[in-house]
Amino acid sequence: MGSTVKYEAGNGHHEGVSFLNSSPSSKRRGKRKVVIIVIVLLLFLILTALGGILAWLFLFKSKSNSTQAVRNAAAPSVRAFSGSCTISSLDYSADYENSRSDQFYLIANAVTRMINSTISADSTIAPFFTQLAVNAFSEGSVIAYFWMRFDVSESNSAVLPSLSKSYVLSLLQKSTRKPKQTGVSEDLRITTVALSPADPRLLRFPKDENCMFDLTADPSGKKVNFTSPGFSKGAYARNEQCQYILRAQKGYVIYLNFPIFHIEDNCTGEFVTIFDSLSASDDDLITMKCGNRPPSNPLTVLSSGHVAMVSFINDGTSVYPGFSAEFHQVLKMKECKLVLPGSEGNFTSPYYPAFYPPNIDCVWTIQAPPGMRIRITFNMFRLLEPDVKDDCLKDYVELFGQRYCGEKLPFTVTSDGPTAVVNFHSDESQTDKGFEAEYSIYDPRKPCTDGQFACASGRCIPPDLKCDGWNDCEDLDDEQNCVCAADQFRCDNNLCKSLLWKCDHVNDCGDYSDEKGCQCEAKQWECNSGQCIPTEKYCNGVNDCADSSDELSCNSTTVPCTNAAYVCENNKCISKVNAECDGVTDCEDNSDERYCSCGNRPYKHNRIVGGTDADVGEWPWQVSLHYQGEGHLCGASIISDRWLVCASHCFQPTDRVDYSRPDKWTAYVGLRVQGDTSTAQIRKISKVITHEYYNGDTFDYDAAVLELSSPLTFSNTIQPICLPATSHIFQAGKSCYVTGWGTLTERGQLAQVLQKAEVKIINDTVCNSATSGQVTPRMMCSGYLTGGVDACQGDSGGPLSCMEDSGKWFLCGIVSWGEGCARRNKPGIYTRVPVIRKWIKEKTRI
Ligand code: ARG
Repeated sequence: MGSTVKYEAGNGHHEGVSFLNSSPSSKRRGKRKVVIIVIVLLLFLILTALGGILAWLFLFKSKSNSTQAVRNAAAPSVRAFSGSCTISSLDYSADYENSRSDQFYLIANAVTRMINSTISADSTIAPFFTQLAVNAFSEGSVIAYFWMRFDVSESNSAVLPSLSKSYVLSLLQKSTRKPKQTGVSEDLRITTVALSPADPRLLRFPKDENCMFDLTADPSGKKVNFTSPGFSKGAYARNEQCQYILRAQKGYVIYLNFPIFHIEDNCTGEFVTIFDSLSASDDDLITMKCGNRPPSNPLTVLSSGHVAMVSFINDGTSVYPGFSAEFHQVLKMKECKLVLPGSEGNFTSPYYPAFYPPNIDCVWTIQAPPGMRIRITFNMFRLLEPDVKDDCLKDYVELFGQRYCGEKLPFTVTSDGPTAVVNFHSDESQTDKGFEAEYSIYDPRKPCTDGQFACASGRCIPPDLKCDGWNDCEDLDDEQNCVCAADQFRCDNNLCKSLLWKCDHVNDCGDYSDEKGCQCEAKQWECNSGQCIPTEKYCNGVNDCADSSDELSCNSTTVPCTNAAYVCENNKCISKVNAECDGVTDCEDNSDERYCSCGNRPYKHNRIVGGTDADVGEWPWQVSLHYQGEGHLCGASIISDRWLVCASHCFQPTDRVDYSRPDKWTAYVGLRVQGDTSTAQIRKISKVITHEYYNGDTFDYDAAVLELSSPLTFSNTIQPICLPATSHIFQAGKSCYVTGWGTLTERGQLAQVLQKAEVKIINDTVCNSATSGQVTPRMMCSGYLTGGVDACQGDSGGPLSCMEDSGKWFLCGIVSWGEGCARRNKPGIYTRVPVIRKWIKEKTRI
């Protein structure tokens, strides 16, 4: 692989020049000298070969635990740079694209000699200079892409600061400025040089044929395909290091799409990088990706010029299908400037929803009649670059003197005059999806229609959201100057909040005034149950709270087995909240991390997607249960390849229909749209086990487990959810998701597309008062007291899914009942899964 020090091309030319601190001019001085030189050279070769092997071992064999950053992945003693230079004295010929042509050899050799002599002349860095190659050419006069590598042993690490981009670049610039004797062609005039740090793993010699591709776009615009190695066989070979050079005609850019992308989740040892250049320099990196992308969120990127390069690295620790990609050329956008017409409309970043290209500036102008104003809402906004802070110095959207960058929830901005100018800037590296925006012209004297309330931001909200205790305007504008209603209290900061939220352990006011003066005093600690204990008793190894919650969040130690402690398989107990499947082994016998192939979503989703339609594979444990002749009736959750969890009330026989008969039920798994079974697995139910204590009047113990007639095959869209341990705590205030095909409104129709809604876990005291005491210890509330977001008829039995810090999803609740749907102060009621955990195990052995 790519680390032998010297590269010998098949035709005897060598273009990868190595090291050489010796003077370039050498003359024969008799046989003895030759012998000595040969011996020295041999020794040198052996040593450098050894160094090469060591470097190779270090770079490719050692499992690096460094961070994601491309550069950091290399050993600290390796410095690599990649860059390009423009040779203005040459005319371009297609021969330069063939690394086996004489032309390629000739010019590559001239450029390497030039760089080699420049670097070798610098006594500070020359001793560490180990590799150099010109790896490609492209048109633009002639652009040569090259890379170089330095290896520094630990004892010489003092030189590392000098091995910086600016130092090496200034050497190269100095030497190219003066006309230099290159040894091949005197008129090799180099006008510009660019250089950037590079990941040494990505550097390849041009004649190394292993997994190297040079692809040219079809001038007719037809797509050209390529794949990762072994893609057609279903999995790629181990330890591949592939490079795909993509070319288009001058004046065109490359539109590159990956219809299938499935590699390892962790980018450290396995990743795809896309460069806006034929050199693997960090400065030209468009994006670096790993993981698995759903068809609904494909990776699509654009180059800024007529070349691009894709690299694929895998360290061979795992086997995945890989990727399939296609590209075609599109005319380069001449200018990105638009006057937006009419009184409303949409606009997006260039090529949206593909990644916007690097190096582009766009301007949109909206002109309203005098006296009118402009409102712009960004529904999707993602201009994310690693390590970029709020200063927005790289890619940004600028309007009304304010810069926006990063990833944002939908937001609205309004003009204070009749003109809006939106600027978009993308710099040379790291691009993203961009944005999608809506604009409309409005009259500032009447900013909102239909009696809606106008926030200061210009946003319009339904009038009943004013003074309801919720920050609907996002700037609290709708909660100012309110007269608190009878069921509200006034916070110290004057906001009105529902009385139900007082002393619920959630900082609703924002200044904690709703949590002041509640049961526990200053030097007391509050148990999960609300009981108060002296602060010093917290984590003292003794259970002071009746529910032991004072000893639960301490560093995990073995404790007496109380109800609240986590019980390991060896029956020892540990004090740690939510110890199961959190990625840390807490039990001596490892049992807390043993059954953890659950709660994963193989597909990568954009974190912010508008709307409530679920994406493909977003809730892979969601099941649709159909009853013969009646279609979808209930939801359920996958907990293993044979078992589902559901609600007991779905299986209660009526006078007319015997819903308890398993043979009449069918489970649709991997489904998103009702009726579209192309991706679904369909199973008959062989057994329905409802909870023995289920009470049809109170809905207490509303749980059931279902056995499938044959096991499921897990896939990107079919996965089990993790079951929480009996001791698992889902904190009040935590955001979770309820999903299902239930009705969209109280008396409405069932949904076709799986719906998702974010709901918050509601504190038990609040839950109890909101339901006038109807909740039992087997139930919990989730939703919003303002109403508007809830599960509804047909969602029953389905999951309330919560993600824990480990990234794993847990089944927190089962949709059970509610008073109507989404009504004010009437949250949804769910079966509490931790309390029926033991029962599930008893029935299913899971
Ligand atoms: N019992 C309903 C069903 O059978 C579920 C009701 C959930 N209601 C609510 N407001 N969260 O589908």
